Amino acid sequence: MSPSMAQGGTGTSSHSPQLNGFSSSNNPKANSFARRQKISQQRRSLPIASVERRLVEEVKNNDTLIVVGETGSGKTTQLPQFLFDAGFCRDGKTIGITQPRRVAAVTVAGRVAEECGVELGQKVGYSIRFDDMTTGSTRIKYMTDGLLLREALLDPYLSRYSVLIIDEAHERTVPTDVLLGLLKDVQKTRLRSINGRESKNKNPNSNNEEGAQSSIFKPFQGRKLPPLKLIIMSASLDARIFSEYLGGAKAVHVQGRQYPVEILYTAHPQSDYLESVLVTIFQVHLNEGPGDILVFLTGQEEIESVERTVHEQLRQLPEGKRNIVTYPIFSSLPSEQQMRVFAPTPAGFRKVILATNIAETSVTIPGIKYVIDPGFVKARSYDPNKGMESLIVIPTSKAQALQRSGRAGREAPGKCFRLYPESEFEKLEDSTKPEIKRCNLSNVILQLIALGVDDVPGFDFIEKPSRIAIVKSLEQLFLLGALTDECKLSNPVGHQMARLPLDPIYSKAIVQASSFNCLEEMLITVAMLSAESIFYSPREKSEEAKTAMKCFASPEGDHVTLINVFRAADEFLEKRKTVTSKDKDDKILRKWCKENFINSRSLRHARDTYRQIRGHAEQMGLHFASCGDDLLQFRRCLAASFFLNAALRQPEGAYRALASGQAVRIHPSSVLNQTKADCVIFNELVQTSQKYIRSVSIIDYLWLTELAPQFYAMAK
Ligand code: CDP
Ligand code: MG
Repeated sequence: MSPSMAQGGTGTSSHSPQLNGFSSSNNPKANSFARRQKISQQRRSLPIASVERRLVEEVKNNDTLIVVGETGSGKTTQLPQFLFDAGFCRDGKTIGITQPRRVAAVTVAGRVAEECGVELGQKVGYSIRFDDMTTGSTRIKYMTDGLLLREALLDPYLSRYSVLIIDEAHERTVPTDVLLGLLKDVQKTRLRSINGRESKNKNPNSNNEEGAQSSIFKPFQGRKLPPLKLIIMSASLDARIFSEYLGGAKAVHVQGRQYPVEILYTAHPQSDYLESVLVTIFQVHLNEGPGDILVFLTGQEEIESVERTVHEQLRQLPEGKRNIVTYPIFSSLPSEQQMRVFAPTPAGFRKVILATNIAETSVTIPGIKYVIDPGFVKARSYDPNKGMESLIVIPTSKAQALQRSGRAGREAPGKCFRLYPESEFEKLEDSTKPEIKRCNLSNVILQLIALGVDDVPGFDFIEKPSRIAIVKSLEQLFLLGALTDECKLSNPVGHQMARLPLDPIYSKAIVQASSFNCLEEMLITVAMLSAESIFYSPREKSEEAKTAMKCFASPEGDHVTLINVFRAADEFLEKRKTVTSKDKDDKILRKWCKENFINSRSLRHARDTYRQIRGHAEQMGLHFASCGDDLLQFRRCLAASFFLNAALRQPEGAYRALASGQAVRIHPSSVLNQTKADCVIFNELVQTSQKYIRSVSIIDYLWLTELAPQFYAMAK
């Protein structure tokens, strides 16, 4: 039961959550004492609490351990604290925990800091790309898997860590898969550094060739390193695959608590699942008992559109039935807003959480009794033959559907509404294909090479990507100038690209822009492209939104248009700046965004990203300059950077992507949608009813042979 519902009553407009026993919220000391007591009681009641001693013993006795437990059993928040208390951070060492998702790293770190009664960034911190909340005193550090991989570039033995926990391993993201291989090796190297100490994994069936296999790293310098404890953790993991891969590592199962969940299917397939989502939300709200609703959607755009429609429809309900609060949660949401979903539901209200698959296992939100699952997820897909990566919406796997429904039964029996017929469930894949098998590998390969892995196809992957995918990615890195003929990092371009925490194609654009005198423009472009949907166009105001967009639209294309938005926001803030308060800035910016049909969350994200990558670029000594009004220079730089994504207009009006030969159209949201440019470059290929290219700018075809002869001379 959700905390608020015990108080009963509907329609009250009070938003202040009340704690049992304290009717006044004016006494912060009493409130904080009550909260601490509540937290400590919650901690003691978690399933993992009863096995603390056993877990600590297992970690002491095994260098590698697999921990499997139901979502919400306390693995992510508690195990690092148990290990801290057991002395694993003695000698100033750190316990690192990786998460596939930024939002999980941030929210869990916040929760654990609160549980420990410390300020975030002190004993407990997090570090994600573009946002570091750690200090020298941080001992429990949550981070993304990608970030730990980057840390390995600077410190190949990851020597500051005594324990590394790879959490949510079942997600099988590319960085997680690569980390597994890397950490296996780090562990061996560290063991060898201590007088050739034997591994503590004493499994007679183990095929662990400890010591026999040579390390991927350069010869060891003779320094003694402490052993590394490696823990693989997950909700629904097939422990056997991991155990076999990790030399017969032991697996421990933590019993979870799960109440029954009633699964309901639709009678027929739904043609418009967003419509069905809305109908179901209101059906639950009006006909079912108290309890919060969790809805799984595929991305920010969908979430925001459903959120708006829920509010529109709420206005049509009688006053007493409007007691719904909505909270979105998706990866690119700024962290303060992500945290809001964890706050208790305001008294008398029903919380509706609109989430991506982030809420399947990564974050546990209390109070959920109803799950609405349309059965879709946005996934990366890569065609190595065409060298093309795209984001597509695909049906979930059976494992995902089960995880989603499980979210309804954490605190009491619940209900899950699957918005498809039962016969469809049977047709779903059993589990999701690991990401490494369906994405462009150039990013990870660049990092592996930067780490000193010369033989990438021979790397010890838990599941090998296809050879063609590896070859294509190497080829792409070579074409971008990151690699030499011997597949080593080129100097300085390859080294510079590896230092930037971006996809190689964007790193290249930034490195290149300094020589085109347009680094400022390129940094803005890359930052704006990293945010999802800058413009928003509500259905009922689409004409107004179109007019607003025209103020920023550039005939050169979407890239300059995005720069115009970024600069207009900057100028507006500059003019309005009366006090230098960040809160005030945010408020003014939100208002400006609303008037101009700009998505303020995305713009804020882009502004943060800009500051961060500008910092990297400056540290690397790249020449910071703006091309001013000389946009030709900027477009030439776009051509020189994104030449792999060029498309040529065909007589019938469609375009042909030059690298892959496939037919594409310019996406209706592009400012170039109605123009008839002969040659364009683009940044994104999306496949819906047909193949669309997004983020498009006009270039001159001849620039391609001039600026990218390494590709266009070969391809003719
Ligand atoms: O990792 P696992 O799914 O096993 O559980 P967890 O993330 O450690 O969560 C344990 C408990 O902490 C859950 O019951 C959550 O309700 C609570 N929690 C929270 O209140 N706020 C967070 N940001 C994270 C967890
Ligand atoms: Mg967890």
